[in-house]
Amino acid sequence: MKYYLTTPIYYVNDKPHIGHAYCTIVSDILAQYHRLRGEDVFFLTGIDENSLKNIESAEKLGMGDRIQEYLDMQASIWQETWDSLGITNSDFIRTTESRHKKGVAKFWKRVEQQGDIYKGEYEGFYCIGCEEFIRPTDLVDGLCPIHKREPQKLLERNYFFSAQNYRERLLDHIEKNPDFIQPVSRRNEVINYIRDHFEDISISRQTMKWGIPVPDDPEQVIYVWFDALINYLTGIGYGWDDELFVRYWPADLHLVGKEIIKFHCALWPAMLMSAGIPLPARVFAHGFLTIDGQKMSKSLGNAIDPLEIAKVHGIDALRYFLLREVPFGGDGDFSNERFSQRYESDLSKGVGNFVSRVLAMAEKAESSLLKLDPGLRRDDKESGVQERVRETWQEYEEAFDRTRPDEALEAVWYLISFGDKYIEEKKPWAIHKEDKEEYTRIMDTLLELVRQVSILIYPFMPETALKIWRQLNIEDAQKGLYVAKLKEWRAVPIATIERGEALFPQSK
Ligand code: MSP
Repeated sequence: MKYYLTTPIYYVNDKPHIGHAYCTIVSDILAQYHRLRGEDVFFLTGIDENSLKNIESAEKLGMGDRIQEYLDMQASIWQETWDSLGITNSDFIRTTESRHKKGVAKFWKRVEQQGDIYKGEYEGFYCIGCEEFIRPTDLVDGLCPIHKREPQKLLERNYFFSAQNYRERLLDHIEKNPDFIQPVSRRNEVINYIRDHFEDISISRQTMKWGIPVPDDPEQVIYVWFDALINYLTGIGYGWDDELFVRYWPADLHLVGKEIIKFHCALWPAMLMSAGIPLPARVFAHGFLTIDGQKMSKSLGNAIDPLEIAKVHGIDALRYFLLREVPFGGDGDFSNERFSQRYESDLSKGVGNFVSRVLAMAEKAESSLLKLDPGLRRDDKESGVQERVRETWQEYEEAFDRTRPDEALEAVWYLISFGDKYIEEKKPWAIHKEDKEEYTRIMDTLLELVRQVSILIYPFMPETALKIWRQLNIEDAQKGLYVAKLKEWRAVPIATIERGEALFPQSK
C-alpha cells in the first residue's frame, strides 16, 4: 500500500507563518500515521516560485535583478523552518528546478496534442495578490475585494486552456465520487462554481519577465497556477523518473486551504483529464487560522512565526494544540493564552501526569511485575480497559480514514481520562501493602494502557511517544512493527521501567 500526500506549494514572498505551518503540520501527522500503518508514504511539500508576488518582494529588497538569488535565499528559509519543526517530508519541490520545468513542458504538450490549447485575446483584470484573473463584477470600487488592491488591466494575446470541455465530466466525477471533495460542506461551493463560472482560462502571460516559458513560444511564460499545480506530478518524477511516478500517482490526498479549493477541484482535475492522467483520490480543504480573532496579515504585523511558538512549549505541544483547538475543516484561532491553557490542562496535567503517575506507581511493583503470571491478568477484561482500548483504535482509525485527525486525537484523550478514572476507582495506592498481587495486576494493566496511548499519540507527538518508549524500555522491541501488530493488547512486553523527566513540565 502506498500513500501519497501533498501540501500546497507556498509563495515565498515572506517567511512561513503559523497558518502555513498548520497545513504542513497536519500533513506531517497524516504522513506519520500512514507510516505507522506500514504504508509506503510519499509526503511532498515545496514552494511556488514563479509568482509575481515573489518578484515584487525581491524588487522591494533591491534584488530585482537577482531574482534567482532571492528565491534561493527564501527556499532555504522555508526548508530550514520545516526541518526545525521536525517535518518529515519526503521531498521539497521548487518550481524553478529543471525537473519541474521538464515535467511542465511535457504536460503542456500533452494538453496541446489533445487540442485543448488555443491562442486568443485576453482583455480584463488580474490580481497579483490572488494570482488570478478577476471578473469585473467581482471588483469592489475598482479593487480586488480580498487584497484591496487595484488589479492589473491586461490586454494580451495569450494561450487559453479549453477548461469548458471538461465541465460535464468534472460534475459527473464529483457526483460519482462523494469523497473527492472534503469536507462535504465544500462540495456544493465547487459544484456551483463549475456549473456557473468555469470557463476557458488564459494560461500564459505575455508581459511577465519571470516564469516557465511556453514550449515553442518563449515570448510567453506559463500562468503561475497552471505551472504550480503540476508540481504534484513533477515532485514524484513526472517527466524525469517514470518508475517513481508510477509508484505514487495518483495522489491519495491534496491537503489545501479553503481559499484554493476551486483551483484544486476544478482547474486541476480538468487539466489532468485533458492530459489523460488519473485524478487524485481526495482534496481536503482546511480552514483558516486567525490570531487573537484577527486575520493574519503583513500589514497588521501579527503573523506568528511557528518557530517562536515551538520554543515556548516544544514542537509536540504546538502540534497538539493546532489539532485539538481547531476542528479540522473549520476555522480556528491562535492565542498564546489558549495555547498555555491547553498546555497545562491537556499536556502537563493530562497525558504527562497520567504517564508519570502510572510509572511512579509501577516502580513500586517492578520486581513482581516482571514475573507476573499471565494467569493473573484476568483483570484486563473485567475492568473494561482492554475493551476501551479496542474501541479507541476503531474510532481513531475511522477518523483518520475520514481525514479527521482532530477526532482521532479526541478519542485518545478520552482514553487517557478513562485511564485516570480507572486509577481513581482502583485506588492502587490503598492496597499496595495488603494485596500485592492485586496491586501488581492493576499496574500491569495500566502500563499496557500507557504503551497503547504512546502508540496512539505517535503521529501527533512523535517526540513524546519516543520518550515514553524509552521510559518503558520498548523502543527496540517495537522497531519494525506496525499498527496492526502494535495495537494488539500486550503486543510488546514491558520488562523494566526507567522513569525519565516529566513529559510536559509545568510552566513556572
Ligand atoms: N502558491 C499557492 C498554492 C499553489 S498549490 C499548487 C498559494 N500559496 S500560499 O503561500 O498563499 O499558501 C497557501 C496555503 O497556506 C493555504 O492554502 C493554506 O493551506 C496555508 N495558509 C495560508 N494562510 C493561512 C492561515 N491564515 N490559516 C491557515 N492556513 C493558511 O496559495
